[in-house]
Amino acid sequence: MDPTSWVPARDVSAFHTQSLRHAAPYIHAHRGHTFVVAFGGEALEDGAAGLIHDLAVIHVLGIRLVLVHGARPQIERAMRRHGISSRFHQGRRITDAAGLRAVEEAVAATRVAIEARLSMGLPGTPMSGMRLRVVSGNFITARPLGVIDGVDYQYTGAVRRVDTHGIRDALDDGAIVLLSALGYSPTGETFNVPAREVATAAAGALDADKLILLLNAPLQTPQGGRIHHLNVREAAALVESAADEVLTANLSTALAASRAGVRRVHFVNRKDPDALLAELFTREGTGTLVTAEPYEALRRARIGDVAGILELIEPLEAAGVLVRRSREQLELEIDRFVVMDLDGAIIACAALYPYLEERMGELACLAVHPDHRREGRGDRMLARVEDEARRLGLECIFVLTTQTDHWFRERGFEPASLDVLPMPRKQLYNYRRNARVLVKRLPD
Ligand SMILES: CC(C)(COP(=O)(O)OP(=O)(O)OC[C@H]1O[C@@H](n2cnc3c(N)ncnc32)[C@H](O)[C@@H]1OP(=O)(O)O)[C@@H](O)C(=O)NCCC(=O)NCCS
Repeated sequence: MDPTSWVPARDVSAFHTQSLRHAAPYIHAHRGHTFVVAFGGEALEDGAAGLIHDLAVIHVLGIRLVLVHGARPQIERAMRRHGISSRFHQGRRITDAAGLRAVEEAVAATRVAIEARLSMGLPGTPMSGMRLRVVSGNFITARPLGVIDGVDYQYTGAVRRVDTHGIRDALDDGAIVLLSALGYSPTGETFNVPAREVATAAAGALDADKLILLLNAPLQTPQGGRIHHLNVREAAALVESAADEVLTANLSTALAASRAGVRRVHFVNRKDPDALLAELFTREGTGTLVTAEPYEALRRARIGDVAGILELIEPLEAAGVLVRRSREQLELEIDRFVVMDLDGAIIACAALYPYLEERMGELACLAVHPDHRREGRGDRMLARVEDEARRLGLECIFVLTTQTDHWFRERGFEPASLDVLPMPRKQLYNYRRNARVLVKRLPD
């Protein structure tokens, strides 16, 4: 359904401007970064127009795009046409000389089809005349996979080298680079290399910021639940448990990419027309993210977090930066807190005290552990508190600060007088502490 179709006409423009505001930090963060996006040949058979359109949008937003396409259904058809039967061993195609000709034919046709579609630019939009340049070439050097378990894979190959200079030159020139599931050897032979291996090797060699794998279905737990975020340790444990074949195969790719130095691997359901853009430009995403770093959860605080929060805030209370809170008070007010949990350690916290009648809320006790500052965590905590305030229908949030007013002012807070505070809060104001009052009106 068009997300705006239920909105009254006069609110549609507000909906769009709001979406743009939410996406802006992600657009800013991704600009100039390299993303490798891999998809199977099926993606060209249904929903291709939407996929190509979204890839073009990502490119236009300043992301350096390397696309890697597979061609399994196209290869299967070409083999049938030539009367060749497909042979696989351990999930890998065995490519003999006749098979290689079918692979070359199918891969070439698929690549040309992608190039043709990308040449359409963004039809039906104000950017329809835009020209996208696509560069493909002999960027992948391959070697034969050889004989494994007594099985000769013949023209099935493995990546030996990625021409990072060549790819970077093309990206620097503003082109989209398109890689196929093929590699060439210095002896002049062609090898069929699985698209995922090309994508993983390219992402690692290029030091890509993200490897994005488009799947035919969302990645799920064996019970069918969504997997939002895993760190490599959790992903390895799931692979070890071998509970689900699809999950194991996909997470193994993520682990291989992580070993190759890729810090973020995203799995996105290509059949959801909004999934790719939502994954990249919204906080919640829609797919599964596997990160090289330990998993940092930003979540509501629980009673078991009290000790961790106290450890974090006590030095700041001693320095007069934060107001003192007893353990008992913290236990009573724990529901008001959100925390950032890094593999069990509390590394950041913040609280929201709502005044529903006045439609205001106090942001309090914002702290990030000194070892984890200056990496945007303060911003993320603030954004989370603002979301919560909006959810409660509050129109503005205020903060009382002694040493951090510039941090807040740089984030849209403005100095205000004591009189703006809700009466019950004003009565509790500590004149000896003499904190400044800053207020931020929340955008709708
Ligand atoms: C303020 C705080 C939460 C920011 O956390 P963070 O994770 O480092 O935040 P971000 O990464 O989003 O922002 C870092 C930026 O804030 C700046 N900053 C940090 N403390 C600041 C302060 N007191 N005044 C002004 N700017 C400050 C940093 O210099 C950095 O900017 P720069 O890289 O341009 O120099 C953290 O410094 C902290 O816990 N401070 C002590 C507790 C506190 O003051 N809380 C507010 C109570 S009202």
